[in-house]
Amino acid sequence: MAKTNFYCRNCGAQAAKWMGKCPSCGEWNTFEEEVIEREKKGKITAKHPGLQQKSTPKLIDDISLLEIPRLDSGFSELNRVLGGGIVAGSIVLLGGEPGIGKSTLLLQLALAVKGKKVLYVSGEESDNQLKMRADRLTTKGNANACYILTETATQEIFKHIEELQPDLVIIDSVQTLQSNLLDSAAGSISQIKECAAEFQHLAKTTAIPVFLIGHITKDGSLAGPKILEHIVDTVLQFEGDRHYGYRIVRAIKNRFGSTSELGIFEMNNNGLREVLNPSEILISQRDDDSSGNAIAAVLEGNRPMMIETQALVSSAVYGTPQRSATGYDIRRMNMLLAVLEKRCQFKLGAKDVFLNIAGGIHVEDPAINLAIVAAILSSATDIAIDGKCCFAGEMGLNGEIRAVARIEQRISEADKLGFTKMFLSKYNMKGIEKNKYQIELIPIGKIEEIFKRLFGE
Ligand code: TYD
Ligand code: MG
Repeated sequence: MAKTNFYCRNCGAQAAKWMGKCPSCGEWNTFEEEVIEREKKGKITAKHPGLQQKSTPKLIDDISLLEIPRLDSGFSELNRVLGGGIVAGSIVLLGGEPGIGKSTLLLQLALAVKGKKVLYVSGEESDNQLKMRADRLTTKGNANACYILTETATQEIFKHIEELQPDLVIIDSVQTLQSNLLDSAAGSISQIKECAAEFQHLAKTTAIPVFLIGHITKDGSLAGPKILEHIVDTVLQFEGDRHYGYRIVRAIKNRFGSTSELGIFEMNNNGLREVLNPSEILISQRDDDSSGNAIAAVLEGNRPMMIETQALVSSAVYGTPQRSATGYDIRRMNMLLAVLEKRCQFKLGAKDVFLNIAGGIHVEDPAINLAIVAAILSSATDIAIDGKCCFAGEMGLNGEIRAVARIEQRISEADKLGFTKMFLSKYNMKGIEKNKYQIELIPIGKIEEIFKRLFGE
């Protein structure tokens, strides 16, 4: 049997058995069990013997860079977020709220990787449920090489892995796993840590990539996945509003790629569908003559997309005006309103302002500022903005419109999608070949100008 010990999470005090109150710091319920010595037997044989060499210090110049083998996940959206596919021997944590579609995504992945043996371990659903779900899904390329195992004991799972020798392992979910080295219940912090460490060992010694599913609550506070972030190589967050069909995969941490990429999926009756052209879904269908809408050319990672922003400005009925923003930071919106108040002589202080970004997407790119300001101005004056017009610019506190990164990518996306006018910072105009595009570029230096340009005066 492995040797375990109990440690206080607060002060690090050690004890042989669990205690409710820490005798050294006086905190309650902080003792956790941890494995300090493992049994030697029951190791899994390495698939790639090279990985089990004894470690020796090497000169950095002598290390030859190996091409990291990557597995195609079958979804180009997911491949991009992972940095170009699933890296051999990597361990990926997929976190998200319950019911968002984590099991669906990874089951689809298991069915989509071609010619590879995949082991899908479920501690949450029975094989019947999984079969029913698989029958709903349209991706069925790999059904003959996708194995299902309903098991929660890690030692049992490792035995099956040894027998089956899969090319990819999926664990649904890390909270249901139980290692027999620890007595604590499945889902407790020490179990989650221990089980993740065991799978990390598996991934590193056998080069089999492992996906772990982890549930988190809305505020992201549930102990589970957060404490795993430093153990795993990649943390993917699966998010989306349940009322919209769209789901977004984002890398929060990635040892094998950038964390700024974003993959978009749509949940249908037959599983998740990749959304390869996000602009088409983020611009809602609307009448051209309604005020308060403006379209922004933003970048998420390396991908430009057009997102619609909507504002509603109305007289405040009660003393304190209401401010609300969906998909955008409310403090930043208040800042934009203050600038508008000062620079454009808008009495927005006595108005309710509501802001909404289409598609339930949270945008952080500051280039969306100009579109938000335009939407607010449009709603305040009740003059509609032409639907073929878009915006990309950041607004400073003095009302100056600042240049944004990689403007050419944004311009060509807008051009490609048939926009006819684009408002941007005059500082962004340097070095742009206007003739390359059909779209008319309108440089703006100060926020006052945009008002004149848009609504004439
Ligand atoms: P699920 O993958 O079970 O979520 P998680 O593993 O993150 O808890 O997905 C659950 C939701 O997705 C469920 O409410 C039903 C819906 N769904 C569809 O809309 N279409 C489908 O094809 C499938 C399989 C699920
Ligand atoms: Mg699930």
